[in-house]
Order: sequence, then C-alpha cells, then structure tokens
Amino acid sequence: MFSLILSLLLSYSSLATSKKLSHENTSSSKNIFILAGQSNMSGRGGVINGTWDRFVPPQCYPNPSILRLDAGLEWEEAKEPLHYDIDVTKVCGIGPGMAFANSLLERDSSIGTIGMVPSAVGGTNITEWGRGTELYNQMMRRAEAAARGGGKVWGILWYQGESDSLSKEDAMLYRTRLEKFFTDVRSDLQLPSLPIIQVAIASGLGQYIDMIRKAQLENELPNVTTVDAKGLKLEPDGLHLSTAAQVQLGEMLADAVLRIMGSPPAHSNSPEKSHNFFFRWLR
Ligand SMILES: *[C@@H]1O[C@H](CO)[C@@H](O)[C@H](O)[C@H]1NC(C)=O
Ligand SMILES: *[C@@H]1O[C@H](CO)[C@@H](O)[C@H](O)[C@H]1NC(C)=O
Ligand SMILES: *[C@@H]1O[C@H](CO)[C@@H](O)[C@H](O)[C@H]1NC(C)=O
Ligand SMILES: *[C@@H]1O[C@H](CO)[C@@H](O)[C@H](O)[C@H]1NC(C)=O
Ligand SMILES: *[C@@H]1O[C@H](CO)[C@@H](O)[C@H](O)[C@H]1NC(C)=O
Repeated sequence: MFSLILSLLLSYSSLATSKKLSHENTSSSKNIFILAGQSNMSGRGGVINGTWDRFVPPQCYPNPSILRLDAGLEWEEAKEPLHYDIDVTKVCGIGPGMAFANSLLERDSSIGTIGMVPSAVGGTNITEWGRGTELYNQMMRRAEAAARGGGKVWGILWYQGESDSLSKEDAMLYRTRLEKFFTDVRSDLQLPSLPIIQVAIASGLGQYIDMIRKAQLENELPNVTTVDAKGLKLEPDGLHLSTAAQVQLGEMLADAVLRIMGSPPAHSNSPEKSHNFFFRWLR
C-alpha cells in the first residue's frame, strides 16, 4: 500500500515517465554521482609531506543518506577519504565529494539517498581516460554496478587536466580529447544529456595550463557546466587543494547541480527518465 502511494506521488509530475517510475523501488533508489579525474578529485586535502592529518571538517562528516560504492562494488556509508580503496597508490585526503553530498542534502533533505561512485586516480592524463582504457572501463563498470541496485546515474563530477598541461601537443589536443571523452561516456551509459560538472584547473606546474583552462571554459557541449577552481587555496606543496578549499569546491559543485535542477527539463518526453526522476526529488 505504502509503495503504491509512493509510486503515485512519484509519477504525478510527468505523464511521460509515469509508466517507468511506477515500477521503481523507491526505497532503494539512489541518486548516483560519478567522481572522476585526477588527484584533486580523489582528494589530497590535509596531506602534508606524504601523511594525511586525519582532520575531517564537519562539512565532510558521514551521513546515513550518503553511500559510496567501494572497490568491491558494494555500497557502504561514505566517509573520508572517499577514494581510499580506489586511488590506492597514493596517500588520499579530503576531496570535494563529501562536502558536495552534504551540501546537497543540507539544502534539500528530500533528495533521498546519494550514491557516490569514486573513480578518480591521481596523475592520470586524458588519454588514459579514453574509451576502452582501463580507467574508462573501470569507471563504466562501477557506474553500471551502482545503477543496478536501484539507482539512477544523475551526473559526473570531473576534475582533470593538470597532466595534459606539460606538453604543447597534449594541451592542443585536450579540447578534442575532452569532448570525445564526455560524448563517449554519455553514449555508452545511454544517457545522451547526462549532466557533467567539470572543474576548470587554475595554476599548475604545466607550462600550457592556460590552453587547458581555455578548452575547459569554452566547452560547448549541452549540459556541461564548469566550476572554476581559480582562487582556491592550495596545500603548502603548491600542487593540491587544501581541505578548506575542497569544502568550498564541494559546495560550488552542489550549487551547480542545484542550478541545473532549477531549470525546467528541456525535453520532458525524452527517454532520460532518470533525470526527470531526480528532478522531482529535488523539488
Ligand atoms: C526495495 O528495496 C529494498 C532495499 O533493497 C528492499 O528491502 C525491499 O524489499 C524492496 N521492496 C520491493 C517492493 O521490492
Ligand atoms: C614538511 O617538510 C618540509 C621540508 O622537509 C618541512 O619544512 C615542513 O616543516 C614539513 N611540514 C610538516 C607539517 O611536517
Ligand atoms: C599519458 O600517460 C601515459 C601513462 O603514464 C603515457 O604513456 C602517455 O604518454 C601519456 N600521454 C599523454 C598524451 O600525456
Ligand atoms: C589541483 O588544482 C589546482 C587548482 O585548480 C591546480 O592549480 C593544480 O595544478 C591541481 N593539481 C593537480 C596535481 O592536478
Ligand atoms: C540537462 O540535465 C537536466 C537534469 O538531468 C535535464 O533536466 C535537462 O533536460 C538537460 N538539458 C539538456 C539541454 O539536455
């Protein structure tokens, strides 16, 4: 009876999707976010001289409504460091993920359960993320496993580019490679307008960082939103975002998602029911 009422409620706002949603097991449905890219997405906040200081700010505390898919493809309650069993050859610290999820929930507790799929690996270049590579396949495998248990892949948070800023050739090719990566992921997940929220890298070691930034900021694919890391504080290593900066970034990413939610769906008859589904949760 209860689930019938829930189904009716959920199918209320869109006739086009009611059929699918009425079969939804809402109690186990998660709004899934894939986290990918390199070290700043994985998280190095609080890592100083190769050791994490173990400081977790309140914005990054665990919450029973925030789950993470572990390396064995099982859900567990999420906690920092979010990438501890994914980015295994590095020392992980605070990244943007927990602050992002907490910020979303704080601003709308009706969102339900958030399923985080950490997939970032430090030091990786865009070529290593191309379709068919190990990183690509692992991310897709994780995304599919995450959705299998009753969830919808809602969006991708992407923060990468530093490793492509070291040579002019790579920097020049970045724009094309990035667009192809986004397009391939959407196509292989069969979610052609899956929201992608990327972070534009600020300064860095690479000589060609401005070319990378330009490629990121000028991306014109639909539903690609860019959040700018320029001005965020780095660790003393001068390489990675600090814990406080990661909290700020997480909140900026949450803002971006809420902004996407705020605009009415472009195609209410499109096959992307997953998007409409989360749209309702956010109302
Ligand atoms: C829905 O999923 C939950 C959690 O996996 C499960 O306990 C419950 O029995 C399911 N309900 C239905 C109606 O399938
Ligand atoms: C990290 O290492 C540098 C250089 O060895 C040293 O100056 C600094 O005090 C160290 N910082 C911490 C927090 O251990
Ligand atoms: C990307 O990284 C791989 C592995 O480290 C390396 O072999 C390759 O040359 C790099 N490619 C680019 C374009 O930087
Ligand atoms: C981390 O992010 C900051 C800000 O975008 C950037 O300056 C830095 O180069 C990044 N570091 C790496 C290793 O990606
Ligand atoms: C962007 O994504 C949102 C949320 O999934 C969706 O409602 C909207 O229709 C998409 N917009 C475009 C232009 O694809």
